[in-house]
Amino acid sequence: MEKSGTTFTGTPELLLPDWNPSRPRRAQLESGLRTAIREGRLRPDTRLPSTRALAAELGVSRRLVVDTYEQLTAEGHLVARRGSGTRVAPQPPGPRQPAPSHPAEAGPQPGVIDLFAGAPEPALFPRRAWSRALRRAVETLADSRLSYGEFGGAEELRLALAEHLGRVRGAAVEPNQIVTTSGYQQGLRIFCQLVRSRGGRRVAIEDPGYPIAAWTIESEQLDAVPIPIDDRGIDVDAIASGDVDAAVVTPAHSMPLGVALAPERRRELTAWARERGALVLEDDYDAELRYDRGPTGCLQGLAPDVVVLAGSLSKTLAPTLRLGWLCLPGDRVTEAMAQRAAFDGGGPRFTEIAFAEMLSSGAFDRHVRASRQRYRAKRALLLEAVAKVLPDARLKGIAGGLHAVLELPPGTDEKEVIAAAGRAGVKVQGLGDYTLDHPRPPSLVIGYGPPSDRELQRAVAVIAEAASCARR
Ligand SMILES: Cc1ncc(COP(=O)(O)O)c(C=O)c1O
Repeated sequence: MEKSGTTFTGTPELLLPDWNPSRPRRAQLESGLRTAIREGRLRPDTRLPSTRALAAELGVSRRLVVDTYEQLTAEGHLVARRGSGTRVAPQPPGPRQPAPSHPAEAGPQPGVIDLFAGAPEPALFPRRAWSRALRRAVETLADSRLSYGEFGGAEELRLALAEHLGRVRGAAVEPNQIVTTSGYQQGLRIFCQLVRSRGGRRVAIEDPGYPIAAWTIESEQLDAVPIPIDDRGIDVDAIASGDVDAAVVTPAHSMPLGVALAPERRRELTAWARERGALVLEDDYDAELRYDRGPTGCLQGLAPDVVVLAGSLSKTLAPTLRLGWLCLPGDRVTEAMAQRAAFDGGGPRFTEIAFAEMLSSGAFDRHVRASRQRYRAKRALLLEAVAKVLPDARLKGIAGGLHAVLELPPGTDEKEVIAAAGRAGVKVQGLGDYTLDHPRPPSLVIGYGPPSDRELQRAVAVIAEAASCARR
């Protein structure tokens, strides 16, 4: 690889390994140089061979090389400076932190049991009901609504969601306070922009917490400030003394510990937000999936003036739908809508109307009820399997959602268990993958959404074996 700030001294084969003089040369030279830059064989600031030298090496006319350099300069790949030749352009600044690798990034790998803590069981997706709703949307949507507009989301969906969230989550929301999003992730980005536009800089996050949240906040040029969680939820005193301008929390079921925010902390958190003039983002990602009793109502219902409620279909239906929503204080709706429009020009109307139809026909409620039953049974299976083969371990955070935390016996090396399980075909993450500043006992985060019953049992057996080898 060429060091930056130097002149490229390698051979043309190194620069253009696929060079074939019998194929169109201009196109080859252009795309070959672009690829070399993208792949880092040509580093930022590296000086390219002179047009005369490269033309001679490749056996092409000098004009062709000059034209190519000019083209790539116009595209921003190269910069030409009088006296110092043509160089690779410096790279634009990227986000301050590298993107976390998403646990499901590699996609399904044959023969591997993936305990990814984020996705529902694919077989549960209500394909019939969804097709019916989508078809109806396609058949009935007015021509005029095939264009841009309705940046808060399709009117039908805002109406149906306001009713649903009021009934199921105790939210205090009118349809015109809702802005739909491309999943929670975009909702969080919009929230960050609301914080920044009022001069905010620091955002409290849960530690341990959802890694994508910390990364998204940092990539929005804000500081993510990790605040510890105990068995009553996030430490609100630490938020109050942390000089932060906003907080992102999962009050119903913290990710990944599965702790519910205690009632007095809910009151303290909203009192802090009011006093400080701060906004709180409530990530309500899996609240509908509760297995022992109904979920606690949302925080937003307690303080709709300072809490933004964020929801998503990623746990109840499927991540691929990329559909979520924000319920905002009235005075922030227009700004959030403008942000949504600026991000991607608004939501996919067919999908939104299909979901509105699922809500108003009762199909979504039926689907959630059936899902709860299935996951309750799966959770029982997991508890039983752990009790049988890992009697010294404890399963925590099991009241709801699609994952649980398996606390390993003290002295177990978390990373070693993960590596050994991986070698035996079970992909699992550790609590360390979700932790920033506040270390915790060795634990695994077990997603029981995607695997089948048999896979889940096998995975627990593999983990037990791996844990027994990793005891110090
Ligand atoms: C804590 C948390 N929030 C939100 C989401 C949903 O994100 P999205 O709607 O962007 O798919 C997830 C999914 O894994 C999650 O774990």
